[in-house]
Amino acid sequence: MQFEASGAFARQLDAADELAPFRNEFLIPERNGRAQIYFLGNSLGLQPRQTAQHLHQVLDQWAHWGVEGFFMGSDPWLQYHDKLVEPLANIVGALPSEIVVMNSLTVNLHLLLVSFYKPEGRRNKILCEAKAFPSDQYLLETHVRQRGFDPADVIIEVQPEDGQTEITTAAILAAIDQHRDSLALVFWGGVNYYTGQAFDMQSITSAAHDAGALCGFDLAHAAGNISLQLHEWDVDFAAWCSYKYLNSGPGAIGGCYIHQRYHKDDSLQRFAGWWGYQKETRFLMQKGFVPIASAEGWQLSTPSPLLYAAHFAALQLFARAGMDRLASKGQQLSDYLLFLLQKIESANRGLLHIITRSSAKGCQVSILVPNIGKQVFQYITDKGVFADWREPDVIRVAPVSLYNTFEEVFLFCQYLEEGLAAASAK
Ligand SMILES: Cc1ncc(COP(=O)(O)O)c(C=O)c1O
Repeated sequence: MQFEASGAFARQLDAADELAPFRNEFLIPERNGRAQIYFLGNSLGLQPRQTAQHLHQVLDQWAHWGVEGFFMGSDPWLQYHDKLVEPLANIVGALPSEIVVMNSLTVNLHLLLVSFYKPEGRRNKILCEAKAFPSDQYLLETHVRQRGFDPADVIIEVQPEDGQTEITTAAILAAIDQHRDSLALVFWGGVNYYTGQAFDMQSITSAAHDAGALCGFDLAHAAGNISLQLHEWDVDFAAWCSYKYLNSGPGAIGGCYIHQRYHKDDSLQRFAGWWGYQKETRFLMQKGFVPIASAEGWQLSTPSPLLYAAHFAALQLFARAGMDRLASKGQQLSDYLLFLLQKIESANRGLLHIITRSSAKGCQVSILVPNIGKQVFQYITDKGVFADWREPDVIRVAPVSLYNTFEEVFLFCQYLEEGLAAASAK
């Protein structure tokens, strides 16, 4: 599409946007009666209007039934999980049986590593991206240590080439090939939290399998953002959080995907708890763990119906909008953002550098503003933009499909350019 740098053009895009009505489904933060430009859907997605009602339903059920709420009322909590699985399966491209909703992200990744990090002899290495989100670094470091390994011996980080911020697919595939005899696992992010780079998960998975390793992904920045086909790509496992693009609230319940070939594989290790026990006989409270023969068999603890309810409210919107339409609008929003940013970059040489490449991205775009970044960030904040500041000089913005507009993208760029002019004149 041929873009134009004008407010009128941005409003035309909004008028033609069939997902535009979804904005009314959200509570947009206001200051002094003015809706703010909320570009932090990659951090904490906004609250759907329906969330409160779904939470109240659980509270009412608790008030009326007490513990019987697990079995009684219009939405018994024991079956609530079933309502979440189908919409999530559509979002991540999985079979419903491959989805489980539980815990939160870092916890889930540890649990999945228990099953899918299977070091054997010299095949004990984990290949991962350098500068992954810190929680992923800490989780790998401590996980391999409790298995008796020195992280320095078994964790191989793939770095971007000199002077680059992104890691090319070719470099990842070359690293997998280089270590093909010693890899137990390739563990990667779907979209990098810092650069916004979306990785070629299909090629990474296929190369990992070809090398005899398993392959899993942290989809914190990918679920609900970009199109995913985990089952078709043959990914072994993945996990995500639901408070970012999935709009399910602060501390929302997380989700996992486990390929169906593992559901009845009793050679896998796992940490178990009673909630993963086969449903028909769970309440007989017998000795000896018998897992549910689906991803649900990885559950440990009683889940919170309140967290389920907040998740359900958001997932209903995803089901109505459809992941294909959401991913394609997300691309268009960030394409427009990059188009405008490139103009600003060439008009303000050296003041701003775009980090995120146009060919591999979702909603998020990251920009580097050396030296005057903090002042520019303050300027756009004062103008009503919620953006993300990463020390020492990066601004991340994520216009998302469900509630952001092309006009907001245009206004953000206008404020950014004003901020650059004001800060560089000082
Ligand atoms: C890529 C990535 N991985 C892991 C996490 C940690 O998630 P949690 O705090 O839900 O465990 C985050 C949090 O933002 C993240 O962005």
